[in-house]
Amino acid sequence: MTGTGIRIERLTKRYGVGDTAVDALKGVDMYVAPGEVVGLIGPSGSGKSTLLKSLGAVIEPTSGRMTLGDEVIYDDGWRIDDLRALRRDRIGFVFQAPYLIPFLDVTDNVALLPMLAGVPNGDARKRAMELLGALDVAHRARGMPSQLSGGEQQRVSIARALVNRPPVILADEPTAPLDSERALAVIRILHEMAHRYETAIIVVTHDEKIIPTFKRIYHIRDGRTHEEVGQGVDFAEVLRA
Ligand SMILES: Nc1ncnc2c1ncn2[C@@H]1O[C@H](COP(=O)(O)OP(=O)(O)OP(=O)(O)O)[C@@H](O)[C@H]1O
Ligand SMILES: [Mg+2]
Repeated sequence: MTGTGIRIERLTKRYGVGDTAVDALKGVDMYVAPGEVVGLIGPSGSGKSTLLKSLGAVIEPTSGRMTLGDEVIYDDGWRIDDLRALRRDRIGFVFQAPYLIPFLDVTDNVALLPMLAGVPNGDARKRAMELLGALDVAHRARGMPSQLSGGEQQRVSIARALVNRPPVILADEPTAPLDSERALAVIRILHEMAHRYETAIIVVTHDEKIIPTFKRIYHIRDGRTHEEVGQGVDFAEVLRA
């Protein structure tokens, strides 16, 4: 992805119809540059997950426009045919819950996506191991998901989101199950990934500890966003505080 990053314009999402309809997004504008990590913050029910799911083609928005790189993917309707390929190849998801595959060990949970994309098994596992090391779970590489703690499972799911080096990563409260030191380690890795691979990353969070690390923050309230300059403090400083 070169040049344009993620662009969201006038995006709306209405769930349901008639009297019970809910307008979850009422005209959201957002931009994330390649190599940038932005925070998305807002109260419960403000539309954060709806926005990420729309961008990730998990749900269909109601109107507006979304651009990834130089391709318009949605303009009052999908503008690409293969949404599954979009989700698989261009977007990494990190959810609040890890959703690991229970019958594959940790390494293969991470290596599966590159294997499916045609990377030789040995190379895919090597790439998986590197990320597991960076996320401080390499010692659990041969374990099964059910044998890991919640925080360990979450770090494995982050490795899985990063392993195909997608140009876009969408993280919905990725640090919720982690202690503050590990939460910061995860955010640091996201910043490094963004920088190294020109990834555009959106992180939904309530986590007070990581909010100061964003240079730019979007606040969402009642289905509308506004942008704010963040502190963008570096990690050593946050860890000392
Ligand atoms: N499938 C659905 N059908 C109907 N309404 C929905 C659906 N999903 C979400 N909503 C409503 O849309 C609004 C936005 O929900 P969303 O899940 O995006 O909020 P959120 O900001 O992620 O909240 P939280 O911080 O609690 O995760 C809420 O009013 C919610 O009740
Ligand atoms: Mg949510």
